[in-house]
Amino acid sequence: MNKVGIFYGPVGGSTERVAKRIAKEFGEENVELIPVHDATAADVERFQNIIFGCSTIGKATWQADAVKKDWNQFRSELANVKVEGKTFALFGLGDHLTYPFHFVNAMGEVATGLLEKNAKIVGRCSVKEYEFKESIAVIDGEFIGLPIDEDFEAEKTESRVKNWVVRLKNKFA
Ligand SMILES: Cc1cc2nc3c(=O)[nH]c(=O)nc-3n(C[C@H](O)[C@H](O)[C@H](O)COP(=O)(O)O)c2cc1C
Repeated sequence: MNKVGIFYGPVGGSTERVAKRIAKEFGEENVELIPVHDATAADVERFQNIIFGCSTIGKATWQADAVKKDWNQFRSELANVKVEGKTFALFGLGDHLTYPFHFVNAMGEVATGLLEKNAKIVGRCSVKEYEFKESIAVIDGEFIGLPIDEDFEAEKTESRVKNWVVRLKNKFA
């Protein structure tokens, strides 16, 4: 398997912790962890296997300045990335109890940009594993990536990450 680029943001919270957990599961030597706040299209181009991780802050859209700024900037970088021959996967932090109608929405926003470019996205997850009402991260009946709730289901994170990474290892080139 080629090296995996894990692009994540924000730093210093749950998203970073889960990004590191995912890295550990792949084996540190098989991944590079890159915060989105200083990542460019050229950084993404270096990888064939790419994971994006974000949290959802703000009910309908990203309201919190730091998250919004980091990811908005990075998403405009992504517009310049050639997706052909690359495989993408996404994970998203959220809170299914406080925000059941907007659960991990940001993961859906990131995915939408990729899908518009016909990017190959792997690692979708069944909605049956989660309790929530609505999410724009549900695309064609499945979560487009891995939802993680460190606020109210932290005890499930380890097994969720483990199972997801096993699946990704079979999908990444
Ligand atoms: C102001 C605020 C708004 C939030 N809005 C949402 C939301 O709309 N949907 C959701 O699933 N989680 C929401 N959350 C929960 C966060 O996504 C969750 O706590 C996440 O683990 C934060 O990750 P971070 O520490 O990396 O930013 C919100 C949290 C805060 C503080």
